[in-house]
Amino acid sequence: MSKKPTKKAAAVKESKAAKPAEPVKSVSAAPTSDLLYPQPVAREGDPVAWKIEDGIAWVKFNRPDKRNCMSPELNRRMGEVLEAFEFRDDIGVLVLTGEGTAWSAGMDLQKYFRETEALGIEAIRKSQREAYSWWKRLRWYQKPTIGMINGWCFGGGYGPLHACDLAIASDDAQFGLSEINWGILPGGGATKVAVDSMSYRDAMWHAMTGEMISGKKAAEWKLINESVPADQLLARVTEVAKMLLSKNAVALKATKDAVRRTKEMTYENAEDYLIRAQEAANYFDSQGRKEGIKQFLDDKTYKPGLGGYKVKK
Ligand code: ACO
Repeated sequence: MSKKPTKKAAAVKESKAAKPAEPVKSVSAAPTSDLLYPQPVAREGDPVAWKIEDGIAWVKFNRPDKRNCMSPELNRRMGEVLEAFEFRDDIGVLVLTGEGTAWSAGMDLQKYFRETEALGIEAIRKSQREAYSWWKRLRWYQKPTIGMINGWCFGGGYGPLHACDLAIASDDAQFGLSEINWGILPGGGATKVAVDSMSYRDAMWHAMTGEMISGKKAAEWKLINESVPADQLLARVTEVAKMLLSKNAVALKATKDAVRRTKEMTYENAEDYLIRAQEAANYFDSQGRKEGIKQFLDDKTYKPGLGGYKVKK
């Protein structure tokens, strides 16, 4: 026999439903994230290296003898490292760079293509998933990311390059869609990266000729943000990373996602998305923007047009 709910019970139910949920604290919490994401321990011959210093995670492709080309093992490891670092409290910005003379010479033609292909379609799909999944994770990473392109960057390297929010190279770094030089099309998103970043004519030239361009030219063609002389690269990237560290972290994550998402939206859809995205950001940080307004209007300690407010950490 079904019982009719009493007025009191109905009221309790209603008030429970109406109460907004508490913000999820673990956005930056350390102990929970350690449990969820065990921290990596460097091992002999690790294809990924890292160091965390002053809020910046310096993550490196670490196969300098193979010009940091991406083997399945490297891709798996990079996935683990990115996962482990994503919610750490002591990391505010992640920089992806390469050990030695290369950023990354693209996919490993021996291990990613030849050996995997010999094992058949299941192995091919597995290898693709392992590569594409860390690039995707990086595209939507919780922390802002900077690609520090210190040398060669070919083919498959364009996936992580595009995934980094900002990209700064040395003037003499070399970029190339070299796929055509060994007989395939620029896959794994590389064609899309060129088309999205460059003019139609430059993208077509780049993909069809397989000719390299320098860091300087890559900046002119808008594949990266800027290039600087090699001996200034580290200092410049550190400077940009520190600038990002001084910003509101919730607003930064919302902003970088908004730039990526709205690129493919109509104006109307983008307008609506941006309202929802800001309201969602308010849930994780209800005070930041109010503090920003206060420091300008009441405290008169800064001018938003000229710089950022002092973020309370
Ligand atoms: N796949 C497999 N092995 C590679 C790769 C690669 N992508 N790139 C470099 N290596 C290996 C070389 O075979 C060599 O191995 P070895 O020492 O056992 O002989 C070692 O790395 C060093 O390479 P070198 O060619 O000797 O280095 P160098 O500094 O003279 O040249 C360069 C660097 C220009 C990057 C050259 O190695 C090269 O052209 N690499 C291939 C670049 C490329 O086209 N990548 C594929 C893009 S397409 C895609 O990613 C889908």
